[in-house]
Amino acid sequence: MEIFSQSRRTFITTLTLLLASGGLLVRYLTPRSNVRRRVLASAALADVPANGALVFRNERVAILKDDSGYYALSLICTHLGCTVTVTPEMLSCPCHGSRFDRQGRVLTGPAERALERMDVELRGQEVVVLG
Ligand code: FES
Repeated sequence: MEIFSQSRRTFITTLTLLLASGGLLVRYLTPRSNVRRRVLASAALADVPANGALVFRNERVAILKDDSGYYALSLICTHLGCTVTVTPEMLSCPCHGSRFDRQGRVLTGPAERALERMDVELRGQEVVVLG
């Protein structure tokens, strides 16, 4: 009887551990489609200058517009994290001189990676940058 009781206890413990780890595994592997993304910045479409940029310094993001539409770039330099400055022709980093084109691609280093392109949504007459 003692052997039966111990094997039942082992079985229940094993089953509990399997169910718990299986639940964690499913949660880990399931995409987070229902997670609401944070709004980093938003602006009226009319406020974004054509071939210009609307800069949100505190959020370190810029909304830009070109012939293909609206897009947003992170202003965090991919070299060491300084805040990039937007000029009419390019984006430049004041810390070590990296330059990026208006699409965020590296023109001159030391940065080696492009600026992060942020997701944007058009909501009515507003453009929203999501983080
Ligand atoms: S932090 Fe921008 S170039 Fe170094």
